[in-house]
Amino acid sequence: MKEYYDLVMESVDAILSMTAHRPRIAMILGSGLGKIVDVMEDMQEISYATIPNFPVSTVEGHKGCLAFGRVNGVEILIMMGRFHYYEGYSMKEVAYPVFVMKQLGIEKLIITNACGGINESFEPGDLMLLTDYINFMPSNPLIGANDERFGPRFPDMSEPYSMELIGAAKAAADRLKLSCQEGIYAGFMGPCFETAAEIRMLHTMGADAVGMSTVPETMAANYLGMKVLGIGCITNMATGIQKMKHSHERVLMIANQASDNLSRWILAFLKDIA
Ligand code: HPA
Repeated sequence: MKEYYDLVMESVDAILSMTAHRPRIAMILGSGLGKIVDVMEDMQEISYATIPNFPVSTVEGHKGCLAFGRVNGVEILIMMGRFHYYEGYSMKEVAYPVFVMKQLGIEKLIITNACGGINESFEPGDLMLLTDYINFMPSNPLIGANDERFGPRFPDMSEPYSMELIGAAKAAADRLKLSCQEGIYAGFMGPCFETAAEIRMLHTMGADAVGMSTVPETMAANYLGMKVLGIGCITNMATGIQKMKHSHERVLMIANQASDNLSRWILAFLKDIA
């Protein structure tokens, strides 16, 4: 059986042979948050299905390709459609693209997501900079024998979201007069939305938002020595805070509306972090 490292390198070699782009910044797009792709220049899409060993995405609102190109003059790789644990992928599959990105030369990773607001000062449509996470998912992509070619056995998570990148994002938000929230993201397994009791628990523990992604990719990226910026779009208030029932359609609708602000914001700091 091939080692994970060899699988990753096969994907990397295939991608390098398919494109001349060599970005050092990458971005993972959350549900409904794809508008930034509209301003990409010289764009080249590589479908996941054409990359050896790459998982294929299934959830509505996700596309399933790597988009290479330039945004505001900066070479960037945008992952359109991510893999969620609740879809049945293993954590190793969920984090696989991050391992590939690292070997492609990516140094900084912007992770976006749609999430539910727990902090009652938040409103649907708000954008939140992740300052930290709490992991409630039942597994972790780094479980198993460690391969030192990737990173250390016991990776440090004292700064899962880079203070430097958070600083650049906040400065850009100020310039744009775009209000942004900050908070702690709790990663839940899904696919059920949380119960009201779970949200009360998360609130007590200090979480500001909850979602079903981002944490595995953040862990892998830190392990691999990448700097991470996390941005959540509050698409709804969490169960028990919001009185109406949740729906994925509504999540996508609010994310789509916030997507313009998100791409304006990213455009404003991309050069600063490049
Ligand atoms: N909970 C979990 N994931 C989510 C939510 C939520 O309320 N909204 C969008 N993604």
